[in-house]
Amino acid sequence: MSGAKNAVLPIMASSLLAEGPVEIANAPLLRDIHTFGKLLGWMGASVARGEAGEGEPSVLRIDTREARRAEAPYDMVQTMRASVLVLGPLVARHGRARISLPGGCAIGARPIDQHLKGLSLLGAETRLSEGYIEAKAGRLTGATIYFDVKTVTGTENLMMAAATARGTTVLKNAAREPEVCDLARALRGMGADIEGEGTDEIVVRGVTSLSGVRHEVMADRIEAATLLLAGAITGGDVTAEGADAGAMDAVLEKIGESGADVSLPPGGVRVRRDGPIRPVNVETSPYPGFPTDVQAQFMAYMCLGDGSSIIRETIFENRFMHVAELRRMGALIDISGNAAIVKGVPGLSGAPCMATDLRASASLVLAGLAGSGTTEILRIYHLDRGYAMLEKKLSSLGAEIARVQE
Ligand code: EPU
Repeated sequence: MSGAKNAVLPIMASSLLAEGPVEIANAPLLRDIHTFGKLLGWMGASVARGEAGEGEPSVLRIDTREARRAEAPYDMVQTMRASVLVLGPLVARHGRARISLPGGCAIGARPIDQHLKGLSLLGAETRLSEGYIEAKAGRLTGATIYFDVKTVTGTENLMMAAATARGTTVLKNAAREPEVCDLARALRGMGADIEGEGTDEIVVRGVTSLSGVRHEVMADRIEAATLLLAGAITGGDVTAEGADAGAMDAVLEKIGESGADVSLPPGGVRVRRDGPIRPVNVETSPYPGFPTDVQAQFMAYMCLGDGSSIIRETIFENRFMHVAELRRMGALIDISGNAAIVKGVPGLSGAPCMATDLRASASLVLAGLAGSGTTEILRIYHLDRGYAMLEKKLSSLGAEIARVQE
């Protein structure tokens, strides 16, 4: 498995707090990681990649000691919303930040009010000016912050901001995602005093400074789920080596309920299916619930179910864009509010289709693998944002898939 994109990005942001180089081992070659590197480079950081040696994962090395610009410009934030992760570290380090306010995106409005509320409670003054959030502060001061909604990058932003604040910060109703835990581990490696990650209350006791660190990033649980579903949807047998089953409970449970066989060989997860696909209802929710980032892929799987299933999306308001494309391949799906009612069909047929966002693209790949005939997917740059060499990994499993144009 590749390292997890959504763990690498916040750890890259946290390098802004470190007074020494930060090395992230197992960071995959992905467009989002490249873009984030460009943003840090624009601020003045040096960002370099060491090639993977024998038995050694490739390493991303970031040194932010010369990074003096406390800004994230419009074009970078718009291509990657995760750029907002620099807000907390910049305010903590420079006492100021100017970040383009991310707009909505394909999957929903995605406000950042919780990030801003938290920063204000830590003592920063924030205001909106010409589409930019401007934040100013002296040294931040610890506070108790209750999140009105569970937010992954919001929790990460405030954990980073609090790491060097004066006094103790308590994050309540914090996100419990494994990627939040990985960031906490990386920050601890830099000398931060953090506990409670993985629960909904995280306590951060501010320290005066953080050092460099070498951190091996966790395996990508969303990539693993996607590859295992590729096995399940095609009636195949796939082992995701290096996948952490503990971080994938909800997904594995649902794959099991669908009639596929899930087993845990040492150091990985295996999924095999030869019987029919039993329809399974799914409702996305914050971790440890079923991840919204696997909803589209699971829906593609349910399109071939032996009956009807209901897939409810509760995290993002507009994350059903794959539905129109799946229908073009013969899927029977009705949308009612935040629920997709999927009526299984015996087969899908290949079709030209259009990727609309990262996980939607992955669902089209899965449907294409299971469908008859050829599927051509356009705009695969969406896929490259979050999957490293997906077509190579799938080919090595026996899929007929090729990249015909960059
Ligand atoms: N929300 C607010 N106010 C806020 C922040 C969030 O109302 O201040 C709402 C959002 O609009 C959404 C919900 O809270 O309805 C959850 O959003 P969250 O903040 O948790 O999402 P995120 O941090 O922006 C991360 C991942 C996403 C993943 C979500 C949910 C990263 C870089 N991104 O986004 O990943 O879908 O958590 O798990 O970690 C992907 O990889 O394809 C992807 C979109």
